[in-house]
Amino acid sequence: MTSVFYPQAADGFGKGFLFMRRIEVKTGKPYEILVERSISGRVGAELLKVASVKRVMVVTDKTVEGLYFERVKNSLIASGIEVCEFVIAPGERSKSTENLVRLWEALAESEITRSDAIIALGGGVVGDLAGFAASTFLRGIKYVQIPTTLLAMTDSSVGGKTAVDLKAGKNLAGAFHQPCLVLCDPETLGTLPREHMRDGMAEVIKYGMINRPEIIDKLYAYTPGDKDALDEIISMCIEDKRDVVSGDEFDTGIRALLNFGHTPAHAIELGSNYEITHGSAVAIGMVIMTRASVKMGLCKENALDKLLGLLDKFGLPSSCSYSAKTLAQGALGDKKRTGDTISVIMEYGIGDARICKVKVSELEKIFEKGLEK
Ligand code: GLY
Repeated sequence: MTSVFYPQAADGFGKGFLFMRRIEVKTGKPYEILVERSISGRVGAELLKVASVKRVMVVTDKTVEGLYFERVKNSLIASGIEVCEFVIAPGERSKSTENLVRLWEALAESEITRSDAIIALGGGVVGDLAGFAASTFLRGIKYVQIPTTLLAMTDSSVGGKTAVDLKAGKNLAGAFHQPCLVLCDPETLGTLPREHMRDGMAEVIKYGMINRPEIIDKLYAYTPGDKDALDEIISMCIEDKRDVVSGDEFDTGIRALLNFGHTPAHAIELGSNYEITHGSAVAIGMVIMTRASVKMGLCKENALDKLLGLLDKFGLPSSCSYSAKTLAQGALGDKKRTGDTISVIMEYGIGDARICKVKVSELEKIFEKGLEK
């Protein structure tokens, strides 16, 4: 990893220096994540450094298209790359098998070849759908992630998990397919609706809870609007995710740590028919698992207090009206179950989450402890 600070361009942002970080991900196919304000306007040049691409399909959603497509398109054209476009409606419902088939057909009609690429410009829905299409079209083509939400920057754009949702649940059809490049432009967060920013903060807090206590301290010190601090926090999260996925690309071991709070969260999302957003559900899920850990004597009460304090600071919820039974039923439909055991992530102290295998029959009791006040 290298960090570079250099004098700000005349039209730049920040306090005189532009934050730039280059994070290497050492998966089977290594790639780089570049964190830099306005880097989305240099996609053409950056892409040509890693692949000699002639044509790209930019996958985006209607909202992001209006904000950033022109900038990305102009940069690609300036680098001599032909640009095709595939636009979906914003929201989780677009991560569907129907849109996947439409995208495959559009790729074929646009004569995208194995030496071309897909660019995912948007949040997690766009990234997962575009990435899955890239993993399957012509048995696999290159793709670039340009995440435009906090959640996508710190989580879904890193690590190569791609998927679409099925009626039975989220992300049930997917593949591991690493991007060839990730361009993270925190400037795009300037147009992100407040509730999406809040959602992403839940995943940011998660990194502090599982591995990096210093993120919790930075978040307590953070003043909303401090761009330099935010860029630093985003980079710390990406580095942590990079460390985890580099050690367990195919999610057979420590990568499960990233699911802290997600077992109850998936049940909450499904139970609410996705009315409760992913970030809100993860926030509630982290509280359930931390409180259960406290009650089981695994960690001290102050870990829960610190978590609750941060959720409050960022306007995230900490409770829900679902019973332990409903949550357990929802969680058991989740793909992380193996036979009669399930992996849950318990908290042993801030920055120290651990994977525990428990009997399916114990899950409801754990949730009961987590919901008790
Ligand atoms: N979002 C969890 C993972 O990438 O494994």
